[in-house]
Amino acid sequence: MGKDVIIACDFADKESVLAFLDKFTEEKPFVKIGMELFYAEGPAIVREIKARGHKIFLDLKCHDIPNTVKKTMNVLSRLDVDMTNLHAAGASAMMKGALEGLTRPDGTHPILIAVTQLTSTDQETMTSELLIDRPVADVVLSYAKNAAASGLDGVVCSPLEAGIVHENCGKNFITVTPGVRFADGDVGDQKRVMTPAAAKEIGSDYIVVGRPITAAADPVAAYRRCVAEFVG
Ligand code: C5P
Repeated sequence: MGKDVIIACDFADKESVLAFLDKFTEEKPFVKIGMELFYAEGPAIVREIKARGHKIFLDLKCHDIPNTVKKTMNVLSRLDVDMTNLHAAGASAMMKGALEGLTRPDGTHPILIAVTQLTSTDQETMTSELLIDRPVADVVLSYAKNAAASGLDGVVCSPLEAGIVHENCGKNFITVTPGVRFADGDVGDQKRVMTPAAAKEIGSDYIVVGRPITAAADPVAAYRRCVAEFVG
């Protein structure tokens, strides 16, 4: 599995994201397009960024009944993205349906990963609102195991959980980890963070990095620093 840095392109419109990507004249970073940009600009923005030569992680976090997610993934498969995702909370029937919908006639499919427990949901919220009494780590691991058993390629999780996920689901089961910060950088609203070097050490396959790159005075230098620390 090739390790890579994925830039979270959390921009509200086409002009902002393209102006940002224009700064990269020598490399073509792997980029994440999330709900904000996709809902603002639609599939056209995916095609445009793909045509510029970037790999794309389409982060739409699908979660619905199996039939709806299967049909949605079938539509997304035509966009030819490199990675996409869903919520593991949709359970195995939904995950299996999604994989079926995403699979092209030649049997290949973009990397399909499952969001385990959102890092914005803490133990207190899980217990009092979702009525889940088990520790977050148990829930994340159970979601990861369900995703692996459903044939998915990996999970989105905190870098702190990447090691345990690999131990239980195998080293080829991909871990995609947000919550990455430089040792001397701003943490912002992220609660549990790790440096790119530490994420490499613990075994993350892909790190998703937003503001440490997008809000940097020199985004290209920040991206290169991330790659140097994470990929080596
Ligand atoms: O700017 P920052 O590096 O915090 O961006 C992290 C990216 O990863 C954002 O696009 C955010 O939505 C996403 N993400 C996250 N935590 C999760 C799942 C996704 O930060 N648990």
